Amino acid sequence: MDKEIFYLTTPIYYVNDIPHIGHSYTTIAADTLARYKRMRGYDVFFLTGTDEHGQKIEKAAKVNNEDPVELADRVVDRYKNLWQTLDITNDDFIRTTENRHVEQVQNAFKKMYENGDIYLGEYEGWYCIPCESFWTSAQLSLNNCPECGRSVEKIREKNYFFRLSKYQNLLIEYFEKHPDFVKPESRRNELFRRLEGGIDDISVSRAAVEWGVNVPMDNTHTIYVWVDALFNYITALGFDVSGTRKKYWPARVHIIGKEILWFHGVIWPAMLMSLGIEVPHQVFAHGWWTLEGKKISKSLGNAIDPVEITKTYGVDPYRYFLLREVPFGLDGNFSYEAMVNRINCDLGNDLGNLLHRTLTMIEKYCDGIVPEHEGPLSTEGKGLAERSKVLCDEVDHAMNNLQFSKALESIWEYIGLVNKYVEISKPWVLAKELSTKNRLNEVLYNLAESIRVVSLFVLPFMPNVAAEMSKQLGLSSDDKSSGNNFTWGGMRPGTRVCKGSPVFPRFEYSVEN
Ligand code: MSP
Repeated sequence: MDKEIFYLTTPIYYVNDIPHIGHSYTTIAADTLARYKRMRGYDVFFLTGTDEHGQKIEKAAKVNNEDPVELADRVVDRYKNLWQTLDITNDDFIRTTENRHVEQVQNAFKKMYENGDIYLGEYEGWYCIPCESFWTSAQLSLNNCPECGRSVEKIREKNYFFRLSKYQNLLIEYFEKHPDFVKPESRRNELFRRLEGGIDDISVSRAAVEWGVNVPMDNTHTIYVWVDALFNYITALGFDVSGTRKKYWPARVHIIGKEILWFHGVIWPAMLMSLGIEVPHQVFAHGWWTLEGKKISKSLGNAIDPVEITKTYGVDPYRYFLLREVPFGLDGNFSYEAMVNRINCDLGNDLGNLLHRTLTMIEKYCDGIVPEHEGPLSTEGKGLAERSKVLCDEVDHAMNNLQFSKALESIWEYIGLVNKYVEISKPWVLAKELSTKNRLNEVLYNLAESIRVVSLFVLPFMPNVAAEMSKQLGLSSDDKSSGNNFTWGGMRPGTRVCKGSPVFPRFEYSVEN
C-alpha cells in the first residue's frame, strides 16, 4: 500500500538578517513534526528555504556595498549551517533566486494575467520596506506601519493588481467548510473577521524595485516579493514542470509565525484558487519569542546566533526547551534561567537519572544483561505497559494538532511514573534475597523497556539523545530499524546494556549567562 503523504513547510527566511532564535523555532518545530511523521510511516516532504528578492534585500545589500546576490549567498550559508547544526532534516532548500523557482513564478503570474485576475492599475498608498507590505492611510497606526511600527514610504505608481476582492466569498466559504484551515482557532477567528470585513485588490508588482522576478509581460516591473515568495511552496515541487514531487501537494501544513498569517491564510489560497490549484490543508501560526523580555531584533543587538547557544547547552536541550516551554501558538519568553532549569530538572533529573540508575542496577545485579523473568507481569508492571499504550495515543493526538508542549508533557508524566515505579519496587531491596530474584528481574526488564519506549517518543524532539539512549540500552541496529515499535515488549531479554556517561551535564545559572 502507498504511504500516506505529508508535506510540510517553514516560511522562507529573508536574507537581509542573520538567523536567530525566532527563525530556528519554526524550523525546529517543523523538523520535529517531520521526524515524527516519518517514524509513523508517512511519506514526508519537508521544505525550507530563503526569500531573496525585494526592496528590503536590495537596500540591505546597498548598505553593505554588496551585490544582492553576494549578500544572499553569504546569509544562505548561515541558514544552511544552522540547519545542519540543529539536525534539521529538510528534504529540499529552495532559494527564490533559483531558475527553477523564477520560471514557475513567471508562468503562474502570466496565467493569472491571462485569466483576468491580474490587471494594470495605479497604486497610491504607503509601503513598509521591512515588512514588504502595502497599507492604506486608514490602516496606518500613528502614521507608521501597523505591523512593525516603523516609518512607511508614500508611493504612487502604475502597478499590476490581483483581484483579491473577487475571492472574498470563495474564501469565506472555504474557511467555513474547513474549520481547521487556520490554526490556532483564535487566530483563525481574527483572520476570518478581517476577511468578512471586506478585502481590496492588492498590488502585485513594483516598478521601483529592480531586485526581483520580472513581470513576464512587462519587464519595467518586478513581481511583488510576497507573491514571488509564496509560490516557493509549489515551485519546489516542480509543480509546473511535472515530476514525482507533484504528489506532495496540497501541503498538509504551512508552519509560520503569526505576523505573516494574512499572506498565507488569505492571499495565498486566493491565488491558488485563481490558478485552479488545491488549497493547502492547514496554515498554523505560532507565537513570537522575546529574549529576556525584549523583542528580538538586529537593531537591539540581541539577536543571538542559535549556534552559540547550542555550543554551551547542546542542540537537543535547545530543541527541547523551545518546544516544551511555550504551547505552540502562544508567545513566549526565552530566558537562560528557564532553559537551565529545564535542562537540570526535566532532562538531567527526570530522564537522565532514570536512564543512569536503571543501567547501573542492570550492571550491578544482572552483569549488564537485560534479564528475563517468569510468569505474568505484576500489577505495577502491567500498569506501566498499559500506560505506554495510552501515551502513544496521547502523543499522536498532540502531534497531529502541533501541540508539541502537550506531547512532551505526556511523555514526562510517563517518565515520572517510571521514576515512581523505581521507588515503589525498590530493586536494591529485592536484590538482597534470592527468593525475590524473579521479581527483581521483572522490575529491571520493565525499566529497560519503559526507557526504550521513552527513547522512541523523544526521538523527534531530541534525535541525538534518543540515539544515545538506545546505544546505552544496547539496542542493535536491527532493533533500531524497528524504531517505530511502540508496542510494549520490544526489548529483548539478554541484551547487553552499555552504560555511558550521563546524557545531560548539569548547568549552573549565573547572571553573566
Ligand atoms: N520571507 C518572509 C516569509 C515568506 S514565506 C512565503 C519572512 N521572512 S522572515 O525572515 O522575516 O522570517 C519570518 C519567520 O521567522 C516568522 O514567520 C517566524 O516563523 C520566524 N520568526 C522571526 N522572528 C521570530 C520571533 N521573534 N519569534 C518567533 N518566530 C519568529 O517573513
